Amino acid sequence: MNRKRITVLTGAGVSAESGISTFRDSNGLWENYSVEDVASIGGWYRNPALMLDFYNMRRKELASAKPNAAHVAIAGLEKEYDVTVVTQNVDNLHERAGSTRIIHLHGELTKVRPEDRYNDRDGFSEESVFDIGYSEIHLGDLAPDGAQLRPHIVWFGEAVPKIEAAIDAVERADIMLIVGTSLQVYPAAGLYRYAKNNTPIYIIDPKDVPVADSRITHIRNVATKGMETFKNILNSK
Ligand code: OAD
Repeated sequence: MNRKRITVLTGAGVSAESGISTFRDSNGLWENYSVEDVASIGGWYRNPALMLDFYNMRRKELASAKPNAAHVAIAGLEKEYDVTVVTQNVDNLHERAGSTRIIHLHGELTKVRPEDRYNDRDGFSEESVFDIGYSEIHLGDLAPDGAQLRPHIVWFGEAVPKIEAAIDAVERADIMLIVGTSLQVYPAAGLYRYAKNNTPIYIIDPKDVPVADSRITHIRNVATKGMETFKNILNSK
């Protein structure tokens, strides 16, 4: 039997009910930190210690966070559908909830790699990436090749190496689900446009969404409740 394909695009809102701050809501991370300082390649060149501290804090916060019912419901879709999760989140809550096919567009908090001043903006070698779990990294922590370790995060000013795989997943989707993203950051924000003409697109978000497209149904609720509505819609088809 051919299973239907669901491609899910998630943002910070899916992890909000796990206690992880979003970026652009009131009291979000960008209200308290400058994006330039902690999330751009220029910030890394100016003050790497500040950036390492920022991601050490994020890792510590993640260690005590747990997947919520929305992560679990997204993982549960795999019982009946062929699911790919494309996430802008750098946390590992989709993995911990049981999702098996996950594309991390903006990198992963629990991974690091050696910095490479000549190539970081354009990419890196996958073989140089490794897991550090929830531990800290500091200036002077070096990779086997002698280079400073840096977070495996896509910063503003850097390429998004996984975008082709994400486009492919959206193009192949029979149903697209978008959860908890303000759709402000490209290229992720434009991904839904690659969905086929007859692919319905469901967006779960308690706030207005900045996109208008006849394929879109807005489920105006938080992720955990919105996933219940989404599952009811799937069951009614
Ligand atoms: P944002 O903070 O921009 O948007 C979060 C979205 O989640 C908003 O639309 C909220 O209304 C919604 N939201 C809040 N609470 C929610 C809940 N309980 N359930 C469902 N939705 C909820 O976060 P992103 O769109 O993920 O990139 O931000 C995109 C990128 O901007 C991030 O990956 C990060 C940031 O700069 C990098 O750092 C490279």
